[in-house]
Amino acid sequence: MHRGISVVTGGLGYIGQSIAREISARGGRPVIIDRRAIRPQVQGIPVIQGDIRDPEVWRQFQGQDVRAIFHCAGLIQVGESVMEPARYFDDNIVAGLGMLNHLRDFLGSVPIIFSSSAAVYGTPEKAPIGEEAPLRPESPYGVTKKQFEEILAAYHAAYGLPYVALRYFNAAGTDGVVRENHDPETHLLPRVARFLATGEPPVIYGDDYPTRDGTAVRDYIHIVDLVSAHLAALEYLAEGGEPTVINLGSGRGMSVGEMVQAFRAVVEDMPEPRVVGRRAGDPPVLVASIAKAQRLLAWRPQHSDPERLVREAWQGALSR
Ligand SMILES: NC(=O)c1ccc[n+]([C@@H]2O[C@H](COP(=O)([O-])OP(=O)(O)OC[C@H]3O[C@@H](n4cnc5c(N)ncnc54)[C@H](O)[C@@H]3O)[C@@H](O)[C@H]2O)c1
Repeated sequence: MHRGISVVTGGLGYIGQSIAREISARGGRPVIIDRRAIRPQVQGIPVIQGDIRDPEVWRQFQGQDVRAIFHCAGLIQVGESVMEPARYFDDNIVAGLGMLNHLRDFLGSVPIIFSSSAAVYGTPEKAPIGEEAPLRPESPYGVTKKQFEEILAAYHAAYGLPYVALRYFNAAGTDGVVRENHDPETHLLPRVARFLATGEPPVIYGDDYPTRDGTAVRDYIHIVDLVSAHLAALEYLAEGGEPTVINLGSGRGMSVGEMVQAFRAVVEDMPEPRVVGRRAGDPPVLVASIAKAQRLLAWRPQHSDPERLVREAWQGALSR
């Protein structure tokens, strides 16, 4: 692997840390930037504690061989973004824009691989959904991802900034060390696993969607597949690929009900799930078309089978 530094913003989080570990495993030089207070190293990877909007964080890289920025830092909860849009616009747009300007000042044109989201689509008209579909985000969170994609496109047009925005669907699973551990946890698999680990029935939000079993259908992608696509996206840019947006999912839709029932394979005497009302802003079906990722990145998901994702979520809950 190229010996230049790969900066991972938000690299103490679930996805960023998994990316940093894989870069390290492939012989690269990851450096994490995260504002959480923690040791100066994690898994042998240097950590700079700071906010991405702070110029001093980026000044330290001046004159160094920085190969790429994996931009994972940000606030991630759709529901919270509805209640507190100011924080979401500030962190996901203002701080990100500050970062881009400091990068221009101190480093010039460094390729950016951005953690975007399927939330940019809102409620899609079809499934699977392709990148050319209209963008109609239904939450401030989704708006921030759409706007940051637009900022990247404008910086590319005006300043030649290379970038790939990766629209993740539902990331899940573990690389063997890093596990999903959000607080609060709003993602289905770790949340269901936590309920079951305490003997409580898992909660399903809505069983009156127009889907095969009435529960919402989602696309779950294993973190190992997600991470390998990031490194492939960087290769793509290095080989002269045009900046673009790419969906990252498994390409397969699984209903919430099916995923919850899949826990029966690992949990003895599993209690029946409790169905409550729909969560505001949850579209009925969100499944990725991954044709573009396959074509441009020569990538395909290899670890995203639901049984494995459920097993790993259960192991994660037991090891908490
Ligand atoms: N997890 C998913 O399924 C999913 C789906 C779609 C998109 N995404 C996007 O992927 C990215 C990573 O998600 P995650 O699940 O790893 O989240 P996470 O909450 O585990 O990690 C995010 C990290 O970013 C850090 N951070 C936030 N703002 C910062 C700032 N201004 N400066 C420095 N550090 C900052 C936080 O301290 C945290 O460690 C996010 O941008 C998220 O919106 C995630």
